[in-house]
Amino acid sequence: MPDTLTLTDNRTGKKYEIPIVNGVIKAMDLRQIKVSDEDFGLMSYDPAFMNTASCHSKITFIDGDKGILRYRGYPIEQLAEKSNYLEVAYLIIHGELPTKSQFEEWRYNITHHTMLHENTKKFMDGFHHDAHPMGMLVSTVGALSTFYPEARNIHDAEARKLQMYRLIGKMPTIAAYAYRHRMGLPYVYPDNELSYTGNFLNMLFKMAEPKYEPSPTLERALDILFILHADHEQNCSANAMRSIGSSQADPFVSTAGAAAALYGPLHGGANEQVLRMLDEIGTKDKVPEFIKRVKAGEGRLMGFGHRIYKNYDPRAKIIKETADQVFEVTGRNPQLDIALELERIALQDEYFIKRKLYPNVDFYSGIIYQAMGFPTDAFTVLFAIPRTSGWIAQWQELLLDPEQKIARPRQVYLGAPKRDFAPMERRR
Ligand code: ACO
Repeated sequence: MPDTLTLTDNRTGKKYEIPIVNGVIKAMDLRQIKVSDEDFGLMSYDPAFMNTASCHSKITFIDGDKGILRYRGYPIEQLAEKSNYLEVAYLIIHGELPTKSQFEEWRYNITHHTMLHENTKKFMDGFHHDAHPMGMLVSTVGALSTFYPEARNIHDAEARKLQMYRLIGKMPTIAAYAYRHRMGLPYVYPDNELSYTGNFLNMLFKMAEPKYEPSPTLERALDILFILHADHEQNCSANAMRSIGSSQADPFVSTAGAAAALYGPLHGGANEQVLRMLDEIGTKDKVPEFIKRVKAGEGRLMGFGHRIYKNYDPRAKIIKETADQVFEVTGRNPQLDIALELERIALQDEYFIKRKLYPNVDFYSGIIYQAMGFPTDAFTVLFAIPRTSGWIAQWQELLLDPEQKIARPRQVYLGAPKRDFAPMERRR
């Protein structure tokens, strides 16, 4: 059986044979299909990329129907159980798990790029006292571009490596400074003796004690959450990273753009919206009434549904298990009961079953973050920090792919045909 697709253009009666490679046809192969020599050629129309692969990738595999997620071939469940975030970040970016010495070098380099230029503090001081942490993060990571002009050398592998250390190292520091600024607390410098997440907790929560000692349970729980959020193939923010990167912009401004895409309530902003929704519902007995309103089209059940997963999001399963460990330290978050009731009712309801709507990664993460003491509007920042390694991996893969060029979709123009300019006095 040949791996081709035979198409007949009924407008002309002509037949075309189009190769199928890796289960896809090339959209450019449609261009030869024309009704006349002047015809531009056939295009495909795909708003929101519902059925268009924009790249070849070797980073993350998802089977949305079966609820499978793998980074570089490794199942997410194994990584969450046996690995740590920095090792996973190395894996995602380099394609292989590090040896002991590779890991030590990686950890050392990231740890030694956690500090921010002192001017960054002044920059952040300029934000209003109630500025949204994601707004501060997006602007500050973009501003790093002005501190490291050599980041423009995107084709230089050594320069790229340095920016990767800086981005992964400095994102938690920016996030922590944004939090401390909101709270009116002094900024805390990184502590290189602590782990990646231990140091992040230090920069967030250290008060007058000479040495901050993170709770090992919370440190590990945050590390697991970071592993689960590290990459998720061609989602809205990864696509933004690739799109901006395709113009050869530097990785700091590209990351700012990706983080901006993450900020929206339909993407990484959903974890914040879940908590607002739980607050609005208030008590468990109000859940059926809320579900009724969702089904009537008055809002969405936030943290439910996914473009790719038409089954339980494997990340949500692991987060639910992690929640119990966190609550042993922090005490149980009462919002959990409302969330469990929402899930119980929704999973039995025809509306959600028919549309294959299941809890996604954001459904339970916010409940854990809240129990750990994070304010609701900081949740998306907690998504952006680990996703930075995924964005970087996607960006580097794009740069090294000879088939990639500046991203530039086509459009189907449906506007006015040519017409002549009318002076204002003649307009009606
Ligand atoms: N609550 C109620 N109904 C929903 C929900 C939801 N959360 N999600 C989808 N639907 C319904 C839609 O109304 C639509 O119904 P219809 O066919 O009767 O019109 C149907 O399910 C399909 O929904 P679409 O919006 O077409 O699905 P799409 O793939 O475009 O959207 C998305 C996916 C954005 C995640 C959507 O499910 C959603 O808005 N969920 C809530 C927000 C959320 O949790 N986002 C986080 C996603 S995970 C992440 O980005 C990290």
